[in-house]
Amino acid sequence: MRDLSSELLAWYDVHAREMPWRVSPADRKAGVLPDPYAVWMSEVMLQQTTVAAVRDYHRKFLEIWPTVIDLAAAEDADVMAAWAGLGYYARARNLLKCARAVVADYGGAFPDTYEALLKLPGIGPYTAAAISAIAFDRPETVVDGNVERVMARLYDIHEPLPGSKAALTQKAQALTPQERPGDYAQAVMDLGATICTPRSPACGICPWRDPCAARVAGTAAELPKKTPKKKTPTRFGIVYVARRPDGAWLLETRPEKGLLGGMLGWPGSDWCDQPEENPPFEADWQPLDAEARHTFTHFHLRLRIMTVHAESDTQPLRGQFLSPQDFSPTALPTAMRKVFDLAHVTLRDI
Ligand code: ADE
Repeated sequence: MRDLSSELLAWYDVHAREMPWRVSPADRKAGVLPDPYAVWMSEVMLQQTTVAAVRDYHRKFLEIWPTVIDLAAAEDADVMAAWAGLGYYARARNLLKCARAVVADYGGAFPDTYEALLKLPGIGPYTAAAISAIAFDRPETVVDGNVERVMARLYDIHEPLPGSKAALTQKAQALTPQERPGDYAQAVMDLGATICTPRSPACGICPWRDPCAARVAGTAAELPKKTPKKKTPTRFGIVYVARRPDGAWLLETRPEKGLLGGMLGWPGSDWCDQPEENPPFEADWQPLDAEARHTFTHFHLRLRIMTVHAESDTQPLRGQFLSPQDFSPTALPTAMRKVFDLAHVTLRDI
């Protein structure tokens, strides 16, 4: 039988993508392993967005908090503000919880086994396998969307996802080598990201073009098949944007539980079919013509924006006025940032 993993590793030796948290194949062969803290951070962030978008966030986090001990000692609000824009804010809260657990339970050194990693807050099967393989060179199988696509094509599996998940994972496991499992995990992901891409795979330059069953069958571009999703519902909400004559904005920290939990936002209604008006104080609130639209994992959100120039002595029922020195729009999650971008034009010159 041909050695598929060796063939892929030979490709990776030449074509590995450089990433700030990675160690090159040459350095790894010389015995260098990456910083588990940097790897953990990258994997948590990469579940959220692309490598290109993660680079800046990763750099910023490692500059502000160079070690897991620094991060564990951070103020919650500072971490939430630094995460703003990455989305899925439960991840940021879990990031902090995990850092604190690594310090409290392991003296600041990440555990190296899949089982121990899996017990940490915010670390699921994917991240546990990724950290133990990439940071500790353990032969764990890392299965993300890239890997599923590569396996579905390599073995021409037509059963749709998510039903085929177990079969694809099994294929991936059978290929995971004992030698260089960390590089191998990254190699399959790089192959999926650069060659075995979703729409038009570059089969002509693929290191697995000969053994690939879907290439032979001509089905690569249609795999993996997916069971159609239900239509994404739309929810509606109302937000209230108030600005005082001294330039201060009325903001509130959202409750820990629920969407955008612990993040800064504009006071407003629940998000539902028919939101009720609940202004944070009585005033002559004026609607903006434009609404803010944002898509979360499971629904579209449309926010109606009410604005007012508040009096100097306004006492809000909810939230607090933050002066321009204490508030940067970059600390807002994207949905709330879109509201700011629309509203600040109206409330700009006070
Ligand atoms: N996507 C998520 N983690 C990755 C990694 N370690 N290498 C390449 N792509 C990734």
